[in-house]
Amino acid sequence: MDENKTVEKSEETNDSEHSSTRRSFIIKAATAAAGVGAAVCTIPFIRSMWPDAGVIAAGTTEVDVTNLKVGDTMTVMWQGKPVFITHRTTEQIKEAQETDIKTLRDPQLDSDRVLQGKEQWLVTVAVCTHLGCVPTVGKGEFGGSLCPCHGSQYDTSQRIRQGPAPKNLAVPPYAFISDTKIKIG
Ligand code: FES
Repeated sequence: MDENKTVEKSEETNDSEHSSTRRSFIIKAATAAAGVGAAVCTIPFIRSMWPDAGVIAAGTTEVDVTNLKVGDTMTVMWQGKPVFITHRTTEQIKEAQETDIKTLRDPQLDSDRVLQGKEQWLVTVAVCTHLGCVPTVGKGEFGGSLCPCHGSQYDTSQRIRQGPAPKNLAVPPYAFISDTKIKIG
């Protein structure tokens, strides 16, 4: 075999390997650049899913109660705490209103715990005032809730009725911003 031809062939092979390596490098670089581009594009997208800065600063939670049936309670989070929203029955409202507050450990009228004209809606922070457990709604002897930790019981206005808790469940600041939407905080 002609020695020059062998050398040429060898050089061709080297060229082809070199261009293959180059191609591979260009593809990798392009892929990396595309990845960075995608990440940059994704940041505004993710940011757009965050709550509005004003909402975070104000620490408010807006809740649509359209589907909350009479007699049911939903639990939402507000400033890192659970909050019960109860759609009270007529009997529950009557019971809460007719309780003699002189018999209560933390005397408070039901009317001071709900919004006038919206007595069917009870909104309370779902943190037991004894040591901070979350009470179970609908349990206990007083129709409100029962704390599973040490047995405190709350009535249909979530006022303390029995057990070691010293205070009623707190009522957070809230308002109706439409017929079916509550803003807590
Ligand atoms: S934390 Fe609720 S009764 Fe103790």
